[in-house]
Amino acid sequence: MIYQVYPRSFADSDGDGVGDLPGITGRLEHLVDLGVDALWLSPFYLSPQADAGYDVADYRTIDPVFGTMADVDALLHKASRLGLRVIVDLVPNHTSDEHAWFRAALQSGPGSPERDLYLFRDGLGEHGEQPPNDWKSVFGGTAWQRVTESDGTAGQWYLHLFDVKQPDLNWQNPKVRAEFESILRFWLDRGVAGFRIDVAHGLIKAPGLPSYSAEHHLLHGNEEDRPRPPYWDQEGVHEIYRGWHRIVEEYEGDRVLVAEAWVEPAQRLARYVRPDELHQSFNFDYLLAPWSAAALREVVTESLQATDEVGAPTTWVLSNHDVLRHATRFGFAPGAVLPNGIGADDPQPDAELGLRRARAATLLMLALPGAAYVYQGEELGLPEHTTMPDDVRQDPTWRRSGHQHRGRDGCRVPIPWQGDAPSYGFGPGPRSWLPQPASWRHYALDAQQGVPGSTYEVYRAALRLRRAHALGAGSLAWVEGRVDGLVDGQVDGWGPDVLALTNGEVFVLANLGGEPIELPEGSVVLLASQLLTQADGVVSVPPDVTVWARLSG
Ligand code: GLC
Repeated sequence: MIYQVYPRSFADSDGDGVGDLPGITGRLEHLVDLGVDALWLSPFYLSPQADAGYDVADYRTIDPVFGTMADVDALLHKASRLGLRVIVDLVPNHTSDEHAWFRAALQSGPGSPERDLYLFRDGLGEHGEQPPNDWKSVFGGTAWQRVTESDGTAGQWYLHLFDVKQPDLNWQNPKVRAEFESILRFWLDRGVAGFRIDVAHGLIKAPGLPSYSAEHHLLHGNEEDRPRPPYWDQEGVHEIYRGWHRIVEEYEGDRVLVAEAWVEPAQRLARYVRPDELHQSFNFDYLLAPWSAAALREVVTESLQATDEVGAPTTWVLSNHDVLRHATRFGFAPGAVLPNGIGADDPQPDAELGLRRARAATLLMLALPGAAYVYQGEELGLPEHTTMPDDVRQDPTWRRSGHQHRGRDGCRVPIPWQGDAPSYGFGPGPRSWLPQPASWRHYALDAQQGVPGSTYEVYRAALRLRRAHALGAGSLAWVEGRVDGLVDGQVDGWGPDVLALTNGEVFVLANLGGEPIELPEGSVVLLASQLLTQADGVVSVPPDVTVWARLSG
């Protein structure tokens, strides 16, 4: 299992309210205890933090808010001693506008080699006063910004698919390619186990930057009947990844390249993990699937098929720093259209139901073959902060969407470690860059450790069993329904709201229906997402519960 650490919210060693590298190093034992194999660190590079570090000003320097290069080395060293591998984030689609290259591009003027590292274009209209095309920023508003030339006149425009402080690089320019190959080597030489590649589907834009009027989303894929936007999933990205594959192959040990690519359908996504390209690609279909047996079954089957065809492992993920935490998502009606961020005056989730379903969804996920990703805090059952005051929000989405979309701050709130400490033990003092809800006292790690049936102990037990039974490397077989226990590999009586499968010797049953169901006679429960009841030797599985069992006979 790969655990995502969002550095600014994991652990704060110096009390400034922002998490840092020494904070992570100090808590690595927690990850070992939980059963983590590898961690992925979101960016900690020098950055003005306009998009929480996804706006990098220098890819080889550590932002002082997170620490120093010596702190990175100490983290890598301790992780290696503890048997944890460390994957870092690489942000190649754009730099910060405070990157030396972009500053030089602004100074050097139209037509210069410096400008060719980015996507500068003349504007339309008589005086170039209109943006070069109609592309929109993922965070809202136009994707173009006009610059003032050094003589003070209104000048060219540059493309930013994200914030105005995140100019897109020109990946047709060989200098950009060479620079990123060098950055890869820089971090591989320092001992990282690989990279999570940010916006891996966005590096190449269609020639001529043709207009595309449709509203687009990073996180929702595209509707089937719409043409692919000219900035996502263009053929040219694959050549870049073949080059990166060759680089990581030169290094000892297993080094992995993981794509963050919001690409549909699964077959199209699988092209990123062909044998000579990247090793894994986040499979967001599982994350986007509603709480429905039919939907989950289809997503699981299609995901496995698509990656099997190219010989790569599939991946599973339910939460990350860009989406509503799954304990909150599942607290709304299945299939409900959810907002990008929730505020106090929005409809609120059913927190109890959400957590119950989240735990069941997690146990299902951790039983599947492939690589599982867990986002910090989900092992505590953390919900989204759904009542955060708007004036503390930091995600540029809130501002750029003209206060239409609250954005992603609700899933980025600092982690509660100790129920009774200031900032719940996130830092030594009370400071926390985003406020923590009062209810988080009960979610704190120390309130759950050693408590049977707590979310933390369920995750921990699941990860131990997942390792012991090698479920990640296993293979899935659906168990079809038939009545009266297990007969010739079949069980029955459960109807369409039940998912039943085996992975090796582990039998998994998820009850997504409204009625309790019975486990096949003679099965030995290994783990359940809630405490189960048993009467006359029959184990009953209530609604919204997943069970792992061993079948006898
Ligand atoms: C990715 C990151 C997200 C960031 C965006 C722009 O989607 O996960 O947090 O805002 O890229 O870099």
